[in-house]
Amino acid sequence: MLLPVESILAKALGQDATQLAAAEKRDLLARLLGRLAHEIRNPLSSLDIHVQLLEEDLTELTPQLREHLTPRLEIIHGELHRLKGIVERFLRLAGPSALDLEPVDTLNLVTHVCELMRPEAASRNIEVSADVEDSLPKVMADPIRLTQALLNLVINAMQAVERNGRIEVRAAATPGDAVSLTVRDSGQGIPPERLASIFDPYFTTKAEGSGLGLWIAQQIVTAHGGSLRAENAPGGGAMFIMLLPLKRSKSVEVGSKQ
Ligand SMILES: Nc1ncnc2c1ncn2[C@@H]1O[C@H](COP(=O)(O)OP(=O)(O)OP(=O)(O)O)[C@@H](O)[C@H]1O
Ligand SMILES: [Mg+2]
Repeated sequence: MLLPVESILAKALGQDATQLAAAEKRDLLARLLGRLAHEIRNPLSSLDIHVQLLEEDLTELTPQLREHLTPRLEIIHGELHRLKGIVERFLRLAGPSALDLEPVDTLNLVTHVCELMRPEAASRNIEVSADVEDSLPKVMADPIRLTQALLNLVINAMQAVERNGRIEVRAAATPGDAVSLTVRDSGQGIPPERLASIFDPYFTTKAEGSGLGLWIAQQIVTAHGGSLRAENAPGGGAMFIMLLPLKRSKSVEVGSKQ
């Protein structure tokens, strides 16, 4: 199901956004999201300040009233904090913020992501296996964002398998001076006519999906100077291949034009 992002963009642009190249659309959407997050941040800060002022005012009330009102204000405070976190996350993704690069050990990364998914996988009788080639060189990457990208792929794999199956996460060196991270599942695979759309923002076939998971993963990988593509695996199921270069020719920023 494709939500009418085209028509929203068309209204915003005053032209038929379907004419825009996919990369241009992604770039535009990233900027729109960033702008929205920015606009929401200011009233959120002002709300936060006023909640703090209210908390100070509480000291002047009777103990009974204070006891009654404190938990409510705490909830408001907590939810505001959560909203701020969400907005910051969008700003980090959409804004031109630089990646926090450091040498990342692929074995640690893959193990961590697999461990995160194992309890849920076990409850669905899905076997998650990690296969990391020996003595792989470290990749220069932002570990938080790279984890998010890989996690999005493994979550999709789990949703595709549903129950009773396999997910394999592999890391290997490739001849072209890159490291490949591959997530392969034993699900239904991706219908060929859908392969071209799955990375589009808001493309989802799931009732509860936002359709942003793969788009975000691709943004992150591209920002690292790498690539992310999908294929159907020879024995059935889907396969997502992330290539991360070992040598970066220039520094690239998340949300920058691809
Ligand atoms: N491993 C997979 N096997 C089969 N289809 C997949 C797989 N991964 C993704 N897809 C298809 O690509 C679509 C887009 O994936 P994406 O992660 O961007 O969004 P989503 O999973 O639908 O929603 P969200 O990530 O927000 O929960 C999915 O709805 C699904 O149709
Ligand atoms: Mg997803």
